[in-house]
Amino acid sequence: MASKAAAILSILPFALAILDKPVIQPNFPGNGLASLGQGLMDHLAPTHSTWDDWGAGWIPQDCKSLVEGAGLSASDVIPFNIHYDDCAQTWTFCRHKDSPLSEITILDIFGRLPVRMRSFVRHLVFIPGAKSAGSNGDNVLLRGDIDVTVFAHEIGHSLDSHAFDPSYGVPFSTGNVWISNYNLDSAVPDPYAQTSQQENFAQQTVISLYDKVVPGGIGTIQPNWQAIFHQYATLEGYIGDVIIPGGTCTHRLTDSPPVQMSSLAKGRRALGPKPNVALSPEVEEIEAIPMKSSITMTSFDEAGKPNGTYVINL
Ligand SMILES: *[C@@H]1O[C@H](CO)[C@@H](O)[C@H](O)[C@H]1NC(C)=O
Repeated sequence: MASKAAAILSILPFALAILDKPVIQPNFPGNGLASLGQGLMDHLAPTHSTWDDWGAGWIPQDCKSLVEGAGLSASDVIPFNIHYDDCAQTWTFCRHKDSPLSEITILDIFGRLPVRMRSFVRHLVFIPGAKSAGSNGDNVLLRGDIDVTVFAHEIGHSLDSHAFDPSYGVPFSTGNVWISNYNLDSAVPDPYAQTSQQENFAQQTVISLYDKVVPGGIGTIQPNWQAIFHQYATLEGYIGDVIIPGGTCTHRLTDSPPVQMSSLAKGRRALGPKPNVALSPEVEEIEAIPMKSSITMTSFDEAGKPNGTYVINL
């Protein structure tokens, strides 16, 4: 039964509401969270950064597996390191040459998110194609023209696994604290949130971030905020300063090991020195969730409303 449900979800629009609560009325504008993007971009300040390309011919293993799973060539990917002023450890992101998001746009959007929130993800991987995104092994695959709300949602999945005291449940969205507070509310944010507690939690991450950083909070965009209050307030209360801008990174995940982009690369062009992915001694290690053999991608319509899911096998 479980595998049948998963197969249906992989090919259809959101047809199955797994959670038992209705979508909030009135709906958020567009019945997704894309309308929260402008407020977030207006009230989250960018972080100064520099960036540099990786050693020629090398790519992080998880980037390679995600890019090849999506049917693209690892040789068309440019891995790059971002050094943000607020973290001693770089992030290594992978951008396919045809992604509509430039390196500058990527480091601007990611750098606006609170550093303590950024700390919980590894590689962000940018590829061209129909707007969609998914999370796997604390990596995020972002396809097409993705905005800050989707960055925050996908990082939300890693927060769910790492950012809370494990005694409350791992992921947090499966534990008693989350479920009992969910039970006190009358609604969930949108049809995407209805598909599972994990997706609901990730949508609530976007709402909590907005509530904390935009003056006046989520009530400025959702008059019926009381219907989802226990969920986002629980997230805000238990996660503490992780979603508050400022500070520095204290913990990070180790990047996946460098592998050659292609077995042919050796003969065709010079292979640069193998990149060093060791963690800076200034940060403590967070243990990454293992990569699964597939990644579930959520797709979005032109207006940024989540409208379905599909699965990429790696
Ligand atoms: C989602 O919207 C996109 C863009 O409009 C469209 O191409 C795609 O077919 C839609 N997907 C579903 C499952 O409706």
